[in-house]
Amino acid sequence: MSTDTVLIEPVAPAGSGTMKALVYHGPGKRAWEDRPKPAIQEPTDAVIRLTTATICGTDLHILKGDVPSVTPGRILGHEGIGIVVNVGNAVTGVHVGDRVLISCITSCGKCDYCKKGMYSHCRAGGWILGNTIDGTQAEFVRIPHADNSLYLVPPGGDEEGLVMLSDILPTGFECGVLNGAVKPGDTVAIVGAGPIGLAVLLTSQFYSPGSVIMIDLDDNRLRVAQGFGATAVINSADGKAVERVMELTGGTGVDVAVEAVGTPATFDICQSILAPGGHLANVGVHGKPAQLRLEKLWDRNITLTTRLVDTVTTPMLLKVVQSGKLQPSKLVTHRFALSDVMKAYDTFGNAAKESALKVILKNQPAR
Ligand SMILES: NC(=O)c1ccc[n+]([C@@H]2O[C@H](COP(=O)([O-])OP(=O)(O)OC[C@H]3O[C@@H](n4cnc5c(N)ncnc54)[C@H](O)[C@@H]3O)[C@@H](O)[C@H]2O)c1
Ligand SMILES: [Zn+2]
Ligand SMILES: [Zn+2]
Repeated sequence: MSTDTVLIEPVAPAGSGTMKALVYHGPGKRAWEDRPKPAIQEPTDAVIRLTTATICGTDLHILKGDVPSVTPGRILGHEGIGIVVNVGNAVTGVHVGDRVLISCITSCGKCDYCKKGMYSHCRAGGWILGNTIDGTQAEFVRIPHADNSLYLVPPGGDEEGLVMLSDILPTGFECGVLNGAVKPGDTVAIVGAGPIGLAVLLTSQFYSPGSVIMIDLDDNRLRVAQGFGATAVINSADGKAVERVMELTGGTGVDVAVEAVGTPATFDICQSILAPGGHLANVGVHGKPAQLRLEKLWDRNITLTTRLVDTVTTPMLLKVVQSGKLQPSKLVTHRFALSDVMKAYDTFGNAAKESALKVILKNQPAR
C-alpha cells in the first residue's frame, strides 16, 4: 500500500455480485440499474471502487445521440476518484487500498501515439471510458492500463477539487490554452462558460493574458466567469456577439478564440472574431458539420486547432491544484449521492435554470 493509506469498509470482492450503475439506453434514455461488478480481465487492469464522480457536458452530448460510438447498454462517465480494490498481476504503480484519480483518457504508455505524448489516440485506449467500455458513474469501474491511466491522490487531497483533473482542467488547458498558444498580454475570447470554458479561463491565467472575454447565453455562468477573472462578458442571445467583440477590441479582433460549446453557431462566432495571426482552438465536441469560412480567413494567417484531450499535463496540474494556486473546487455547485445520479443529470441538464456548473456524485460514507 503506498502514499495515502485509507481504511476501507469491507466490500464484496469486485467481480462477484452486482453493483448499481448509470446505463445509457439510446438517445434521451438512461437508468440507474443493477449490473455485474467488473472483474480484472487483463493483467494490466485495476478495479476501482468509486468515491467521487461527476457528469461532463460530453455525457449530455452522448444522451442527445451526438456520439455514435456509445451504444445502448453502456455505463456512462469518464471522471472519478476512488479506492483500488483489485489489480492485475502486471500492475506495479498502484496497489489495493490506494486512492487514485481516474484519467478520462486510458493509455498504455507504450504504443507509438503514447510515445509521442498523444495519449488520446493510444492504440489500446484513448477516450474509451464511458464510451466504448463501461465508465465511472457506477459503484465500481475497471480501468485498463492502470499504471498509465491512474494517478495517486496526494495525502489530504480534496476529492471535489481533484476530480476536475479527470477531464475538465487538462481539457481546458491542453485543447484551449496550449493549442490556442495564449501568450502574455493576449486578447482571448472563450465561447462557452460551462465547466470547460471556465477551465480554459482559469488555466489561461498561467500566461497572464491582457484580457479575457467570456461569451455565453447564461447570465449566471457569465457572473461566475467574472468572479474567476474574465475582464468582459457577453450574453450572445441577441446574436450580436461578433459585433460586441469587435467593439471591445477596437475593430481588431482577438489573438485567441476558444470554442468550448460544440455547435456550428459558436464555431462561427470564433472564426468571425480572429485578429490577423489569431488562433482558433476548438474544444467542443461537434455532432454536426460547421462551415469553415476560408473565403474570409485565407489571408489572415490564422491557425485552427482541434484536439481530444491527452491528459499529459495532469501531473503538472495536480501540483498546481495541490499548491492552492488553482482552486477547481469553486466549480462545484451541487452535491448528490451517487445513487441520486438520475436527479443529478436532471440538474446538470437544466444548468441555466438550476445555476449548475459541476455536480459532485459521492459514493463514500462520511469519514
Ligand atoms: N476536446 C475534448 O477533449 C473535450 C473534452 C471534454 C469536453 N469537451 C466538450 O467541450 C464542450 C463544453 O463542455 P462543458 O462541460 O463545459 O459543457 P456545457 O454544456 O456545460 O457548457 C456549454 C456552454 O455553452 C453555452 N452555449 C450553448 N450554446 C451557446 C451559444 N449559441 N452561444 C454561446 N454559448 C452557448 C451554454 O450556455 C453552456 O454554458 C462540450 O462540447 C464537451 O463535449 C471536449
Ligand atoms: Zn468529459
Ligand atoms: Zn498507447
